Amino acid sequence: MTLALGNKEIKIIPGLDLNRLPKHLGIIMDGNGRWATAKGLPRSAGHKAGIENLRKMSVFASELGLSYMTIFTLSTENLKRPKDEVDNLFNLIRTYMNEDTKQLVERDIRLNVIGAYKDLPGDVASAIDRAMADTRHCGGLTLTLAVNYGGRADIIRAVNTAVKSGTEVTEESFKDLLYTKGMPDLDLVIRTSGEQRISNFLIYQLAYAEFYFIKKHWPSFNKKDFQEALLAFQQRNRRFGGVKS
Ligand code: FPP
Repeated sequence: MTLALGNKEIKIIPGLDLNRLPKHLGIIMDGNGRWATAKGLPRSAGHKAGIENLRKMSVFASELGLSYMTIFTLSTENLKRPKDEVDNLFNLIRTYMNEDTKQLVERDIRLNVIGAYKDLPGDVASAIDRAMADTRHCGGLTLTLAVNYGGRADIIRAVNTAVKSGTEVTEESFKDLLYTKGMPDLDLVIRTSGEQRISNFLIYQLAYAEFYFIKKHWPSFNKKDFQEALLAFQQRNRRFGGVKS
C-alpha cells in the first residue's frame, strides 16, 4: 500500500493500520558507537550518523501521523563518558537546536526537551530553550528529546514537589509532576542494537508499554524497521493486567 502525501508517496508495509498507531512511542537509539567501530570509523561518526537518522525518523513519524515520540537522546549517565565524546555530543545537540527548527516548523513538529538540560553548558541550554520556543505553536508530532534525563531523578523530583506542596498524590495526579506532564503514557518502546534493558528511561510512564528490541544499530534502523515495530505492536494482546475481552 502507498500513502499519498502531497506529491510524495510513502510505502506502507502490508497489515500496518495507520489508525491504530501507539499514542506515545519511545525510542532508545542505541548502538551509534558500535555502528562506527564496525565500519572502522571514530565514535563521533556514529553519533553524526545517529542524529542524521533521528532527522529521517522524525519526519517519517510525522508523515505516518504519530502524535508523540520521545527519544532517549542523552542520559545523565552518558555524561560520564570521556570529555571529548561528551563535548562532541553537546556540539551536536547545539547544532541541531540551531539548525533544525526551520525544518521542524515546516513539518509542524513541536520540539520538546525533558531532563535536567539546564545543568548543561549555558549555550547548549539556551539553544534548547530557543528551539522549543520557536516550535511551540506547531500542532503535529510532539518530538520530545530526553537530554540529561534519568527516570529515577524524574520521580524523585516529582516526589519532592509533592512533599513541598503537602498534598497527597494519586497515580494520575503524580503524572502531572513529571517532565512528561500532559502526555499520554508510553504504549511502545523500541530499543536498537540488541540490548534488552530500559536504562532508566521514563520508568514511571512505561508501566504498561510494549517493548520491541531489534539487533540493528540506530544509524541503520530504517523506515521498514520502524513500520515492522509498529506492526508488531498492533499484533500484541494488551490486557493491562485484566483478561482478554
Ligand atoms: C547511543 O549510542 C547514543 C548516545 C548515547 C548519544 C546519542 C546522542 C546524539 C547523537 C546527540 C543527539 C542530539 C540530538 C539533538 C538528538 P552509544 O554511543 O551508546 O553506542 P554504543 O552502545 O554502541 O557505544
